[in-house]
Amino acid sequence: MRGRLFFWGGVAAVVMAFPLFIQAAPGESRQTELVRMVRQDCGSCHGMRLTGGLGPALTQEALAGKPFESLVATVHAGRPGTPMPPWSALLSYEEAQWIVKHLVAGFPEELNRGPR
Ligand code: HEC
Repeated sequence: MRGRLFFWGGVAAVVMAFPLFIQAAPGESRQTELVRMVRQDCGSCHGMRLTGGLGPALTQEALAGKPFESLVATVHAGRPGTPMPPWSALLSYEEAQWIVKHLVAGFPEELNRGPR
């Protein structure tokens, strides 16, 4: 009787936790990749210091006050009719959110520079 209760309790816990797994923020090594990608791939248009080039500046100051979800949509889906390409083949929506969240807060330098 007790065993059965534990069994169904366990099933319920797994079912309720499932959305947490699929919504999970990128792990640490994926974060390192994302930082490198933004610095290098995005930097080729937005400037190596993200202060603008072919594309506009992506600094904390430049993005201040712009709507979060629309910036995320720009990164994920691109802006048709402009050179800003879609990144949905390389980034999940959650990863695009992670990038915009960090751009708005002042983007980190590459995390894996120099000796550890
Ligand atoms: C081929 C050049 C190019 C690359 C590569 C590129 N962008 Fe862009 N991006 C642009 C251009 C041009 C615009 C401006 C589009 C417009 O005119 O609205 C833009 C716009 C944006 C905007 C909206 C800025 C605002 O002020 O509304 C964001 C955010 C952005 N890019 C992020 C990124 C990120 C993150 C990456 C890398 C994953 C990236 N871009 C890679 C060219 C590029």
